[in-house]
Amino acid sequence: RVPVLTIDGPVSSGKGTVARRVACRMAWHLLDSGALYRVLGLYAERQGVALDDEPALTRLARELPVVFREGDGDIQVLLAGEDIGQLIRDERVGELASQVAVLQPVRDALLARQQAFAEAPGLVADGRDMGTVVFRQAPLKIFLTASPEERARRRYNQLKEKGFNANLPALIEDIRARDDRDMQRSVAPLRPADDAIVIDSTHLSVEDVVDRILEEAAR
Ligand code: C5P
Repeated sequence: RVPVLTIDGPVSSGKGTVARRVACRMAWHLLDSGALYRVLGLYAERQGVALDDEPALTRLARELPVVFREGDGDIQVLLAGEDIGQLIRDERVGELASQVAVLQPVRDALLARQQAFAEAPGLVADGRDMGTVVFRQAPLKIFLTASPEERARRRYNQLKEKGFNANLPALIEDIRARDDRDMQRSVAPLRPADDAIVIDSTHLSVEDVVDRILEEAAR
């Protein structure tokens, strides 16, 4: 069986960056499961399917013509051949993603597709339910978190770097609200797997976190 390392956590916990670096250092494949939900949200919008039309969304999830092409240190996301890697990072597309993600039949339809990423020599899987649902048997599960204030600060810096205006108190409020929604939703609520190692990165750099995970993986 192909080894899988899962990294779950709340919004702006840094798990995307950490997962990418860990996968790179281990020379393992990478699954960015959030990207899959984002692509589906975008695809639904383009197909004119309403975000509460569960049967139609489930059908789209099954047929989703998406390909993740791994290059050196980067992953191209192709929707029916079109590179949409930048587009799906949009705040708006993230909103679409979080709406389709609350539908259980949609999640079920994406399950096998996610599990198919587990190919030799190994997989680093980044998301919300990697350790609790999709790769329940993974030998190493990480739950990465940080205080809402610290996550808001990171988000603030990212936005500033991109030249956007940002308001720190509003971002903190926003992150708290998202946490509540993610942890309280009835479908795939965000929580650490029982056997997950919880890493609080509030006072850790990305490199610290990566090193800590590589240490655990080497055990
Ligand atoms: O991590 P990212 O921001 O790309 O995820 C986009 C949306 O997809 C999130 O709002 C989250 O609710 C949803 N998601 C999910 N399960 C995953 C990954 C993402 O429900 N495994």
